[in-house]
Amino acid sequence: MIGDKKILYSGMQATGNLTLGNYLGALKNWITLSDEYECFYGVMDLHSLTVRQNPAEFRKRARMLYTLYVAAGLDPEKNCVYFQSHVSSHAELGWLLNCFTYMGELSRMTQFKDKSAKHADNINAGLFTYPVLMAADILLYQADVVPVGADQMQHLEITRDIATRFNNIYGDVFTIPEAYIGKSGARIMSLQEPTKKMSKSDENVNASIYLLDDPDTIIRKFKRAVTDSDNEIRYSEDKPGIRNLIDIYGATTGKSKEEIEKEFDGKGYGEFKLAVGESVVDILKPLQERMKELEADKSYIDSVIKANDEKAQYFSMKTLRKVQKKLGLTERIR
Ligand code: TYM
Repeated sequence: MIGDKKILYSGMQATGNLTLGNYLGALKNWITLSDEYECFYGVMDLHSLTVRQNPAEFRKRARMLYTLYVAAGLDPEKNCVYFQSHVSSHAELGWLLNCFTYMGELSRMTQFKDKSAKHADNINAGLFTYPVLMAADILLYQADVVPVGADQMQHLEITRDIATRFNNIYGDVFTIPEAYIGKSGARIMSLQEPTKKMSKSDENVNASIYLLDDPDTIIRKFKRAVTDSDNEIRYSEDKPGIRNLIDIYGATTGKSKEEIEKEFDGKGYGEFKLAVGESVVDILKPLQERMKELEADKSYIDSVIKANDEKAQYFSMKTLRKVQKKLGLTERIR
């Protein structure tokens, strides 16, 4: 707790451009929850280094991600929005928690398996211990709740396991966090291969809607979305393309599956795809407009980065010092 508020922690990697999946699965929920909780949102740039980055592009993209958080509605004067790499306690606690994490549990992580298959020429140790750094992110702030998409659930579980293991040895050091998975939008799928999740790193640009795509591009991508050959708008396991579009439309309009099926009863895929595309254009419009304004105001973004780095440093350091003491590391001489 900070004051009388519970603590929320979340973040995104600064790898690639944010997609509609990131927005509907996570960012949208962050904004809804931000009044109720004391919130910390990180630009997870250290995690991004598990894959090779072009330094100049990476720097630009990480700053853009920060600005997007703000443009999407996270007020950086109320929420602590900061860069993971600016707060050294993340890497420090990450190391300490490595010593409380087993090889066996890390090798079961599906994201590790997927990413090592994809980057077979660079299966580095960082990719393997990625979930430990994520556990450190969350546990440093004593987070009660972590809003994420369904794909991060396994990482939340291991975070809870590591924290419980530590607490069992050293007493109540860490708050055990709960995942918050939204009712809709928790798993948005690729528009081209609807059995695969929509991903920032997909090479096919038509598979993902990027948050800064212009309206024509968004509508075009939805028109091209892969569906099946019958023409019925019905939510069903055997219709992954249509099911995904219903999920997206539900998440953007707040309508239930049943309401959507009724609304498009007897109508064709063309009409439905257009409606989904338009609903996405509508929710992204304010974010895109705000993004333009913020990009022009460099000094404002600089000032909030500075203030929030200090805030994150202050809170995370309290936990780090406690952990160091519990472990028996020699105290500093003041
Ligand atoms: P990342 O950057 O892959 O994704 C950011 C958030 O977006 C969600 N998400 C999706 N939700 C629905 N449908 C999709 N297709 C989709 N794709 C992504 C993710 O679930 C996530 O919530 N390891 C994390 C970043 C991280 C983190 C943390 C998150 C590092 N430390 C601490 C929370 C707390 C990641 O790679 O997310």
